Amino acid sequence: MKKKHNNHRDTRKRVMRSVQDETAPVLVRDGTATAERNAGAYHVPVMLKECCDALITDPNGTYIDGTLGGGGHTAEILRRLGTGGVVFSFDEDAAAIAEAERRFEEELGKSSPQLMLRHENFSFAHTIQHTIKRDGKPQAQDNITGILLDLGVSSRQLDTGGIGLSYRVNSRLDMRFGSRDGLPVSELIATTQQGVLEQILREYGEEPFARVIAQRIVEVRRVAPVVTTFDLRVIVEECVPPHLRQQSLSRVFQAFRIAVNNELGVLEETLRGIVPRLAKGGRIVVIAYHSLEDRIVKNVFHELSRRSMPINPDDFDTPEAAREAMIKSTTVEVQPQLKILTKKPLTPSDEELFYNYRARSAKVRIAEKT
Ligand SMILES: C[S@@+](CC[C@H](N)C(=O)[O-])C[C@H]1O[C@@H](n2cnc3c(N)ncnc32)[C@H](O)[C@@H]1O
Repeated sequence: MKKKHNNHRDTRKRVMRSVQDETAPVLVRDGTATAERNAGAYHVPVMLKECCDALITDPNGTYIDGTLGGGGHTAEILRRLGTGGVVFSFDEDAAAIAEAERRFEEELGKSSPQLMLRHENFSFAHTIQHTIKRDGKPQAQDNITGILLDLGVSSRQLDTGGIGLSYRVNSRLDMRFGSRDGLPVSELIATTQQGVLEQILREYGEEPFARVIAQRIVEVRRVAPVVTTFDLRVIVEECVPPHLRQQSLSRVFQAFRIAVNNELGVLEETLRGIVPRLAKGGRIVVIAYHSLEDRIVKNVFHELSRRSMPINPDDFDTPEAAREAMIKSTTVEVQPQLKILTKKPLTPSDEELFYNYRARSAKVRIAEKT
């Protein structure tokens, strides 16, 4: 116990020294300091070195950053690329794309031909088309060398309110990253049955007060529509004792955000969709902040890396043929598509948590195309 405590104190002292010295890099271990510092005002990138070390297997490869946000990971990927490498960076939030256009133009002097910004959902990542010149002739580059998904929201989205992701700032209750498809939270709340609201809060937020909050939402909406973040905040505060309110508010806001963006469905669809387009040895790196997201990554990686699967009787012409096959074995061999590189997820170091507490729930899983 004592040793652990001392270690933590040492780390704390070391980080304090580098924070106090303004000329010292924020991260001392490698050259990622510049990207860290530049992105800091918008969003401090999480596990930057670990993720980029895992992602970049070929400096001249084709990469996807599915979640551009403040561009911290994109900047570091760009920094590590050779002249033949490119990165396609996606974000559904128009403000993130606009900020990245401004930032990268300022940093690079002009927009980089190695950076392609996409104002789209990352579920379209598998559709990217890239052409390279070989022997002076354009040639379609079908394979993707790596994809990074840093799920959730950026600090800027939380801190500025905007689309209503934060209970700390009063704004319209929308929460859609893209604002194009699906319902805003205000409409979801206005039109959804109490039981379904409760289920959303319980499943996506793991909220212990799900039932009373859903009930109160229905009572309130009979009298007046719930249209702002503070309308929802007041409802939660009425249902939860003061010392538990902050956690409940976070969970309730998170639950509605996951629901209106179909975050879990989109994640699973994207992981399954990208695998066929990955080059052999190409990597998928996912940073998840929520146990349900992490479970989806774990399960999809597990399923696509298995070497055998149960026999499906429907695959046989007759029930007799199925029965005969199952007498010999109940499983069939399959070719694995992925190799899991992280048996247990990676988590942030004490050092990182000291300067970026928002990274505390991050879990990184990595898989490689076989
Ligand atoms: C945690 S932030 C990424 C931060 C970024 N890695 C950085 O270092 O600055 C997540 C970003 O992904 C975006 N996002 C979330 N889900 C998305 C989706 N399905 N498609 C596209 N962008 C998405 C959000 O708008 C947000 O800007």
